[in-house]
Amino acid sequence: MNILVTGGAGYIGRHTVQSLLEQGHSPVILDNLVYGHRDFLESAGVPYYIGDIADAALLRRIFREHSFDGVMHFSAFAYVGESVTKPDIYYRNNLMATVELLDQCVDSGIKTFVFSSTCATYGEATEEFISESHPQNPINPYGRSKWMVEQVLKDYEHAFGLKHVILRYFNASGAHPDGHIGEDHEPETHLIPLVLYAAMGKRPDIKIFGTDYDTPDGTCIRDYIHVCDLADAHILGLQKSLTDNVSINANLGNGSGYSVKEVIDACRKVTGKDIQAVEAPRRPGDPPRLVAMADHARQELGWNPRFADIQTIVEHAYNWHRKRHD
Ligand code: UFG
Repeated sequence: MNILVTGGAGYIGRHTVQSLLEQGHSPVILDNLVYGHRDFLESAGVPYYIGDIADAALLRRIFREHSFDGVMHFSAFAYVGESVTKPDIYYRNNLMATVELLDQCVDSGIKTFVFSSTCATYGEATEEFISESHPQNPINPYGRSKWMVEQVLKDYEHAFGLKHVILRYFNASGAHPDGHIGEDHEPETHLIPLVLYAAMGKRPDIKIFGTDYDTPDGTCIRDYIHVCDLADAHILGLQKSLTDNVSINANLGNGSGYSVKEVIDACRKVTGKDIQAVEAPRRPGDPPRLVAMADHARQELGWNPRFADIQTIVEHAYNWHRKRHD
């Protein structure tokens, strides 16, 4: 398949480009390098364009120069806290620019649009395991911007016949097993990289944001999913949508939750380092528990995560961070 990957120089996009290549497909990257990495772009060895998804002229050129079977859309801003203070850039980039991209897809006869969505579209969990039918009540502008695009996609399917694959990620983590690509956000806010930075002496400690949640050890529980498993699901989703001419909505998680303290312990085990953990106040907006009901993607897409174990996720992340930062 020939696929346009927007945000292909970012964390999840670049791993998906890698999986596409490993499976014999032909990705083309579009990335504005606001959060993407130039070395990720160059190391992919595929055609790339540096520019914005809101640049209609550039998009028209890209669609003229290539014939795509589908578009995978990863480029978005994804800092929950920032989205609260700067909702304008989240709605402009995540919603309005995506609508521009969708219009180009429709004009160019693209059949399926694969969309990076998030469990943040569900808001506070009312079920122990969140299924796709869980009510969607996002509690911040980031989650709302993703939820809004989901609604646009349903309307575009109805009006223009553009199929979609909406994939709601839980906590993307880990790195490619060979360690040449991985997670590298600036600023970094995610738990696993920050714990590993503490292990590597890049920071003195890891702060535990809240120890008084209604969970067994008082810290927040999340469903960590390996980035290469996420990548595989995108390819399976696109293939299924194109073959069966259907739209798909699916959670991508492992269906098992780990608390902040359990993640820190896993990092201690993998690194052999005595990581200093400091109790700190809750981070505003953190739901106590987000764990997927993860069966639908397995059944509908035949998806079979290869690295479901938290230990393996942390090992791959550590391998990458040591190469990147040591
Ligand atoms: N945490 C700490 N200390 C830190 C960093 C994080 O205790 O230094 C805790 C957080 O409070 C949270 C857990 O670790 O309880 C996981 O936090 P992350 O920031 O790694 O991930 P989130 O669950 O907050 O965010 C993820 C995605 C977002 C998405 C969100 C949905 O990264 O893009 O899930 O809620 F929006």
